[in-house]
Amino acid sequence: EKGGFDHFMLKEIYEQPRSIKDCMRGRIYPQEGKVQLGGIKEFAEKLKNIDRIIIVACGTSWHAGLVGEYLIEEYARIPVEVEYASEFRYRNPIITEKDVVIAISQSGETADTMAAIEMAKERGATIFGICNVAGASIPRLTDAGVYTHAGPEIGVASTKAFTAQVTVLTLMAFYMAQQKGTITTSKLIELLTELDHIPEKVELALESNDLIKEVSEKIKDSTNCLFLGRGTGFPVALEGALKLKEISYIHAEGYPAAEMKHGPIALITEEMPVVFIATQNSSYEKVISNIQEVKARKGKVIAIVTAGDTEVKKMADYCIEIPDANEAFLPLLATIPLQLLSYHIAVMRGCNVDQPRNLAKSVTVE
Ligand code: F6R
Repeated sequence: EKGGFDHFMLKEIYEQPRSIKDCMRGRIYPQEGKVQLGGIKEFAEKLKNIDRIIIVACGTSWHAGLVGEYLIEEYARIPVEVEYASEFRYRNPIITEKDVVIAISQSGETADTMAAIEMAKERGATIFGICNVAGASIPRLTDAGVYTHAGPEIGVASTKAFTAQVTVLTLMAFYMAQQKGTITTSKLIELLTELDHIPEKVELALESNDLIKEVSEKIKDSTNCLFLGRGTGFPVALEGALKLKEISYIHAEGYPAAEMKHGPIALITEEMPVVFIATQNSSYEKVISNIQEVKARKGKVIAIVTAGDTEVKKMADYCIEIPDANEAFLPLLATIPLQLLSYHIAVMRGCNVDQPRNLAKSVTVE
């Protein structure tokens, strides 16, 4: 049942090239530069005129939502707000009929996310769902939706369901851009052609497993860990920190790299591993200066870098490579080594990776 893997979590990490492919199947047409999302097709016209998108979710799904915010704003030019369902539902938020609410939930049963949907629905918003479990409560509450098709996820800490959510949000961003005309067909051809090959790049990212195990050995006894990134690297950092906390019980925080100097920098000593998302994209030079700030304080730097990188290698204690890709697809690749890092650290610490203490697969209480 674990397919030769020691844990479901590891099996599910390794399933990602396939789960991402399954998620895109029948939805992208790279040669034509077209995205088709049957689940939200009937709202294709409405998408041309919406004022705003509100994404509601909890935990890992909320991190996927933050990636969605970057991509939808970048490509479809629709303002997006990402809300914790539990905060949103107890406020008196401003919602109108011209709003689209996207509820993201792997299980489709999260109580706070369901309550947020119900409230937004009462106030007239259109509700889309992104869910992994067909027929769960959330897909039944929404007006339309897109399934992630990642297959059952047994490990309590979400891995393949997260990358599938990010894949769906990427497709939604491109779909909305196509509907609104904020993207050219030639640009879509270029992006979709690259997206089509992301599963192979995820496969390559998985090849760093042995190196990641070595790095894990070096930092497994830490009591704290920081994860820093910019742009879409920021939600990836949050997700990396959450995974580490959940399964290894090491205290970890994710921050936008530039926020470090506004507080967390005080924590940096030689005992403190700092994981950077330092790939070659628009924020590369800025991240490099953040790495220098950490090194100047003797922090231990573990960097996720683009294959072939030389600059970060001069500074970081350990570098883990991922294949080069358009910035839009960075989260799908940079998340992989972080999942493996938390997995190995947790195993080395003797933790129950598939069923961490105090956690449940679906949180049906408020
Ligand atoms: C973390 C994790 C949780 C869930 C959260 C929401 O690995 O899985 O943070 O993401 O409980 O669950 P869903 O997505 O089922 O609504």
